[in-house]
Amino acid sequence: MAVPESIRRRVEVLRKEIDYHNYRYYVLDSPVIPDVEYDRLMEELKRLEAQYPELITPDSPTQRVGAPPAKEFRQVRHAIPMLSLDNVFDEAGFRDWDRRVREGLGQEEVEYAGEPKFDGLAVSVLYRDGLLVQAATRGDGYVGEEITNNVRTIKSVPLRLMGEGWPRVLEARGEVYMPKSGFERLNRELERRGEKTFANPRNAAAGSLRQLDPNITAQRPLDIAFYGFGLVEGGRLPERHSEIMDRFREWGLKSARERIVVRGVEQAVAYYRRMLERRDQLDYEMDGCVFKVNRIDEQERLGYTARAPRWAIAYKFPAEEAITRVLDVVWQVGRTGALTPVAKLEPVHVGGVTVSSATLHNIDEIRRKDVRIGDWVWVRRAGEVIPEVVRVIVERRPADARVVELPKRCPVCGSEVIKPEGEAIARCTGGLYCPAQLKGRILHFASRRAMDIDGLGEKLVDQLVDRGLVKDVADIYYLTKDQLLGLERMGEKSAQNLLEAIERSKRTTLARFLYALGIREVGEATAATLARHFGSLNRIMSASEDELMAVPDVGPVVAAQIRAFFRQPHNLEVIDKLKKAGVHWEEGEPQQGPKPLEGETFVLTGALDSMTREEAKERLEALGAKVSSSVSRKTSYVVVGHDPGSKYDKAKALGVPTLDEAAFLDLLAQAEQGRPLD
Ligand code: IVH
Repeated sequence: MAVPESIRRRVEVLRKEIDYHNYRYYVLDSPVIPDVEYDRLMEELKRLEAQYPELITPDSPTQRVGAPPAKEFRQVRHAIPMLSLDNVFDEAGFRDWDRRVREGLGQEEVEYAGEPKFDGLAVSVLYRDGLLVQAATRGDGYVGEEITNNVRTIKSVPLRLMGEGWPRVLEARGEVYMPKSGFERLNRELERRGEKTFANPRNAAAGSLRQLDPNITAQRPLDIAFYGFGLVEGGRLPERHSEIMDRFREWGLKSARERIVVRGVEQAVAYYRRMLERRDQLDYEMDGCVFKVNRIDEQERLGYTARAPRWAIAYKFPAEEAITRVLDVVWQVGRTGALTPVAKLEPVHVGGVTVSSATLHNIDEIRRKDVRIGDWVWVRRAGEVIPEVVRVIVERRPADARVVELPKRCPVCGSEVIKPEGEAIARCTGGLYCPAQLKGRILHFASRRAMDIDGLGEKLVDQLVDRGLVKDVADIYYLTKDQLLGLERMGEKSAQNLLEAIERSKRTTLARFLYALGIREVGEATAATLARHFGSLNRIMSASEDELMAVPDVGPVVAAQIRAFFRQPHNLEVIDKLKKAGVHWEEGEPQQGPKPLEGETFVLTGALDSMTREEAKERLEALGAKVSSSVSRKTSYVVVGHDPGSKYDKAKALGVPTLDEAAFLDLLAQAEQGRPLD
């Protein structure tokens, strides 16, 4: 049955439209119709082609996928060899290349085209009469592998050139790469399916392109950037590289968006620096910039060496990844006691600097990556980021490689290390005693809601610890005026003020003191509850986990932390030293009955100076009070801060007692010491 002319025409129109929308979407990144509409066009074309198979042509947009797997790759001889590029690794090398070019051309200044050096796979794509007829890898530069059906699946590669004016034979050359985002998606998917993941986008691109089954390639997020040409017959290209790339784009052959034309070496260097800075923000991996003499006639005058053109150079970025050996794994202790494993490496040049250590994040990460001491590993340093071990080269693992164990004792202070079930972070329990944790601990200890030592801020704490004047929080109480006067920016007056603040802080409450100790999981509310429940420090220190768990809000995790803290002899020493220095509080009988504010309802209105609304609520609730958002006759107290709202008026109207901030703080203090309200 003959195909009706109207159908033939419709098929032609559909193909033109789909090609155009492909171009808008994949080449220009600026689609002009929504995806559903595109899908509708594609569906219609597929339906017509199914109905009239004689209409199917190889360049039809329906024909990107579906080719059967090949048994092997056919070899293709490149009509014009695909040469490589010479590299330079620093500015001196680049300026040297510029000098040679200028001398070669006898010019003061040369016009260059600058573009990203894509980290992918070089391919040659041959168009005959505008139709894609062959694609090949670079191979050894002379003979490559035929990968036409694979390249056809890359959406940004036109099966048929657009526009007009292209040569009858045009061999476009470019780089197939995998965008970083697509690479991450692919690896996640492979991992989910339990398959082997790719080490980096370049390997992923190579692995995807060199697939005997093009249907697999079709599912991989590959993209292309054209950067040059090979064979050209039956037509002419413009006189400049940059203009050729502009024409390419009109024909649907995508090139780097970040291309530029510069005059002279200074502008070229500036472009390189800009691209180096932008590197991490781009969705493709680039390993440098390529500079080309822009005028084709000048390129021809310069010619080629045996392996590379004289008119182009790859000015490489510092490599972001390198291979080296793990010499040891040490554990660093941070301010919160968190232990972070750090790989000590055989020094290696990566990301523009010499790297001799890299973070391994935590023990779970070490297990997941299976990093062992003695292993060969890939390390990565991108931008300003801390270097990290990316993965192990298991194939090169020496027989005596040692498994990394989480230390049982803190490498800094020797205290026990604990890693709560289900948490990634292991911590030192050395608390107040561990110097690594000291600075953070001191700041917490001195903070307003803890011991409230006015003026003991970060700068001062740094100095005190760095000079060895304070080795544990108790040392604060043994500081002398002379010692303080020896510190930076410390005059007579501020030294005196600080000493007075330290002196004042000695008189405290058990709840504050407990909170100040900085036991993990013991926040202000828990400290208050503990203080009230046990009444004395000794009773808390000798309580078993079961006894601790009898306290409202104390579960097994909190109880374990409290026990671990008081098991450490160092912590006990520091507490002793604090008491000897004169830190004191009123102790009382255990109060295991109702909490002091049980049955009372509070309403908060306006802002408080000494705490946030949230903090006030937590403290009240820890004391057993209810905090409500509306005032009624049943409300016990309305706490009135600055700029109170209508709740204040309502309280007055209903005759509900109000507390200003000072009265509220008195009430809290009284209740937190377990004393009934007056
Ligand atoms: S021009 C005759 N431009 O780098 C020179 N190459 O190290 C042809 N590459 O084999 C190459 N981006 O695979 C050129 N913008 C770019 C490039 C680029 C990546 C690759 C290409 C080449 C290799 C040389």
